[in-house]
Amino acid sequence: MADDAWASLADRFADEAYASVKGYVRTYVMHHQLMEHLPPAPARVLDVGGGAGHQSFPLAELGYQVTLLDPSQTMLGKARQRLERLSPDAQRRVTFLQADGENASAATEGQPFDAVLCHGVLGYLDEPAPMVNQLCQCAAPGGVVSIMTGNARAAAVRPALERRWGDALASFDARTEIGVLGVQGRADTVDEISQLMRQRQVEPVRWYGVWLFVDWLEFGGAQLDPSDSEQVAATAAVELEASRRDPYRAVSRVFHLVGRKRSA
Ligand SMILES: C[S@@+](CC[C@H](N)C(=O)[O-])C[C@H]1O[C@@H](n2cnc3c(N)ncnc32)[C@H](O)[C@@H]1O
Repeated sequence: MADDAWASLADRFADEAYASVKGYVRTYVMHHQLMEHLPPAPARVLDVGGGAGHQSFPLAELGYQVTLLDPSQTMLGKARQRLERLSPDAQRRVTFLQADGENASAATEGQPFDAVLCHGVLGYLDEPAPMVNQLCQCAAPGGVVSIMTGNARAAAVRPALERRWGDALASFDARTEIGVLGVQGRADTVDEISQLMRQRQVEPVRWYGVWLFVDWLEFGGAQLDPSDSEQVAATAAVELEASRRDPYRAVSRVFHLVGRKRSA
């Protein structure tokens, strides 16, 4: 494993980003999309690059057996702190593993999972194929593979909304940008990741956008109040609907692709 590159980002991501309206929308929308595909609990879920557990801990509360794999000691520390807030039963259903996702199959000793999640990770890797390979390998026949990553087709959205017109013009064919956490990120397309899945026995089933209007508002300078629970709930409901439909999903800066592994 490389040095803990996420040590300096852990607080900003796990505490600050998730405390924002965008963070709430991300978890809410992704959870609803996932639940359209997951088998009923109890089922085995592997969360690769699971970070502080924002996406998989709610699944543990619902009765799923969660293995959270992440190379970052700091992120795993955050996850362990957050685990204490779960019910005792849910806590017992979570296992932590420190490893790179590119070694997920060996790290989990080849056990098959009913669902393999990889959310917000591919963009930090030089290329997606080795990771997608492991995700597909870890899924049981009939199991779900859920990938969320940056949408290369919507690269101009952020610089344009921030009125960085030169950057926006240059971004249409770009694959990398300095992301909101201040580190370089790489974006992919739904077609490319679908193709990588297909080559590894996983059939793409459906894809979604994730957040949209909250991005436009925040990059445009609006302040969104995460303590206004009525507004936040109304926002999340609109975002969920937009995430499922054209043309909205196509211009979300992030996409969520769900596939299912072919039965043997
Ligand atoms: C943006 S966070 C996403 C965390 C979590 N999936 C979520 O959606 O809240 C990115 C995570 O990817 C992890 N990561 C970075 N490189 C990785 C790799 N090669 N394999 C697995 N995880 C990795 C980081 O440690 C960090 O926890």
